[in-house]
Amino acid sequence: MSGRLHIPPPFQEREGRLYLDGLDLVEIASRYGTPVYVTSSGRIRENYRRIYSAFKERYDNFSVKYAVKANSNPHIISVLAEEGAGADVSNLNELLIAEKSGIPAKQILMSPNNLSREELAKASSRGVAINFDDIGQMEIISDSLPSLVSFRVNPGIGRGEFPGTVTAGPDAKFGIPEDHVIEAYRKAKDHGVRRFGIQMMTGSNVLDSGYFGAITSKLFDITRRISDHAGIDFEFVDIGGGFGVPYRPDEKALPIDVVAGEVSRGLKDKFASVGKPLPALFVEPGRYLVADSTVLLGRITNVKSYGKTFIGTDVGMNTLLRPALYGAYHPVSIANKLDHEAKITADVVGQICENTDRIALDRRLPDVEEGDILAVFNAGAYGFSMSNQFNGHGKPAEVLVSDGKDKLIRRRENIDDLLQTVVHD
Ligand SMILES: Cc1ncc(COP(=O)(O)O)c(C=O)c1O
Repeated sequence: MSGRLHIPPPFQEREGRLYLDGLDLVEIASRYGTPVYVTSSGRIRENYRRIYSAFKERYDNFSVKYAVKANSNPHIISVLAEEGAGADVSNLNELLIAEKSGIPAKQILMSPNNLSREELAKASSRGVAINFDDIGQMEIISDSLPSLVSFRVNPGIGRGEFPGTVTAGPDAKFGIPEDHVIEAYRKAKDHGVRRFGIQMMTGSNVLDSGYFGAITSKLFDITRRISDHAGIDFEFVDIGGGFGVPYRPDEKALPIDVVAGEVSRGLKDKFASVGKPLPALFVEPGRYLVADSTVLLGRITNVKSYGKTFIGTDVGMNTLLRPALYGAYHPVSIANKLDHEAKITADVVGQICENTDRIALDRRLPDVEEGDILAVFNAGAYGFSMSNQFNGHGKPAEVLVSDGKDKLIRRRENIDDLLQTVVHD
């Protein structure tokens, strides 16, 4: 086996170098410096259109609410706003960023988790629908509730790529357990709310196509019980995000047509069987829309080999946290040596004073030297948005590529940015 990486679309190999949309990414790395996240707006549009049409063809009253936490750069949200996406936001700042990026409040659903009454009230006053995570969070703003209210239900089951990305089930901090959710809707009704939705978000990066139909069916059973006992109908049913993307070479893409078919058919049949009008269907993908649109480029700064080989780079857990946080896998290669045979097995590590600062473990790579360019693929979701300033590093730059042109959409942070919020005597 050569050990050479299959370059995932939209990226390409040309004469041993990594390209995107006709642009040489090694040249991009030298022009903008490293580390730099480089995103294809074309790929985001393709991902959006694939999931949107899969559902829309089968379920007319359907919308996509982009989970802006996956990547909240306004230039990237704007691409999705142009496609017609709404937004899933988790707090007031994400809400303001989504609005600034061109998504109107009426297309935004806010799913807060333990926010203050002040923040909740401010969000409500902007006219967004709120999907409360608990009865208490609804009650603290009972005098200023939005007209459309939903609750995040914990259906008792969850699934995710890692234990840390399972967001429902007995141990989850999110949502209201099934047997308490009727009370939530009764109380909201007592506070004068007349328009309702229901939401669940049970976990992230699920590649099992059968899972989404199964949890939707479970959610429908819960809506029935609420309708019967609280006497309400639902304007929307929101099955959350969680649509997986392949990270490892042996993983297959999620067949989104199959997922959309099972979810849509299930909802249509079940609502018809009880003689109720079909509610709107929302999904909240984050990862599915942006993960594979982006490569993170870094520079090799050192190679250390006394037994085990460590490839030192300027990309670490401060730039891309997922490997250290969950043990997540990202494909890596050397952007200026794509046609070189793999000769070494190494851990790719960063500059951070933590032994967990590893981007990739035991990877087969070509011989590398200082100055080579590292490419970390599938870095568009929870990449920049989870980056941090630990060890005095500024956050990386972001570049957007559209129709063969590159544009800086966030400059790299410098020492002044690191000190900006410090109060001087
Ligand atoms: C409420 C909510 N919706 C949507 C998402 C997006 O999940 P994903 O990126 O897996 O699609 C998340 C992620 O944590 C979430 O918390």
